[in-house]
Amino acid sequence: MFPLIPTPPSAPLERLHLPWLKHAGIEVAVLRLDLIDPLISGNKWFKLTHHLAAAAEAGAEGVISLGGAHSNHLHALAAAGKRFAFPTVGLLRGHALDTPTVNDLMAFGMQLHWLGYAGYRERHAPGFWLPWQERYPHLHPVAEGGGGLSGALGCGVLLTQVQDQLSQLGWPDYHAWWLAAGTGTTLAGLVLAEKGTRPVYGAMAVPKDHGVAENVAAILAPSGLQQRYHLINASRGGFAKIDQHLLDLIATSEAESGLPLEPLYTGKALLALHDHVAAGLFPSGTRLVFVHTGGLQGRRGMETRRHSVL
Ligand SMILES: Cc1ncc(COP(=O)(O)O)c(C=O)c1O
Repeated sequence: MFPLIPTPPSAPLERLHLPWLKHAGIEVAVLRLDLIDPLISGNKWFKLTHHLAAAAEAGAEGVISLGGAHSNHLHALAAAGKRFAFPTVGLLRGHALDTPTVNDLMAFGMQLHWLGYAGYRERHAPGFWLPWQERYPHLHPVAEGGGGLSGALGCGVLLTQVQDQLSQLGWPDYHAWWLAAGTGTTLAGLVLAEKGTRPVYGAMAVPKDHGVAENVAAILAPSGLQQRYHLINASRGGFAKIDQHLLDLIATSEAESGLPLEPLYTGKALLALHDHVAAGLFPSGTRLVFVHTGGLQGRRGMETRRHSVL
């Protein structure tokens, strides 16, 4: 029997104080998903909610999913499996690597299979899951990153979490959301929850050819809410590409605001917001909710990667 999984905890909403925001008259509050749990951190628990409910409904005992050697999704899933006592299997991109994330996955009891690069590229092929379902018939398959409509629906509760805390900030309302997009699932969940009221800005941590726009459009298609979001190129040359300007912005912002960031998602999202504000694209008086989508565990593997991408 699949265990009962509690709903994700409420994330604090905190004001972000940075000189360039003040200068432009823009107010930002950060929804700190990085603080909801030491291990099941960021947007992952939210994205997993409906997938785990589907696993329970299907009578599964555990979950099988995919990701890379630094995957925040697999990390959160493995931690959830250990915490709530259900088995997890991870299908990994590439060949066996020793990263802090992979070490955690094993310590959390996730069973790992390395698919190579070609094998991993097959993950969207029609027959991909068949052999895995034969091998693990008691496990529920979850798409890469906990995506799809199920993943998006789990993020809708973020709207309530923000609205419950607005009065503590002294905000009557807010004008828009700003967050990093990897698959665009979290963004799509917010667009669905807003039902057209406020727009959602997604700073894409991946290049255009990763299909974020197509993915978001597919999730939103039945709702007719296609107009209420904007995708901004924020990948700076590719997923996980890190440059000095980005690292400088992260270091300065952390020192000035105390907000911890990592360079793959939240750092790139903040830099994209900086550039958007600097270009005068938001009028003075705009109030934005910036979603801190977590990912801080991935920082541990960053030192070695930084050398390979600089
Ligand atoms: C830390 C972090 N932020 C943002 C995202 C992007 O979320 P989504 O795939 O829902 O766009 C991810 C994962 O993809 C992530 O790990």
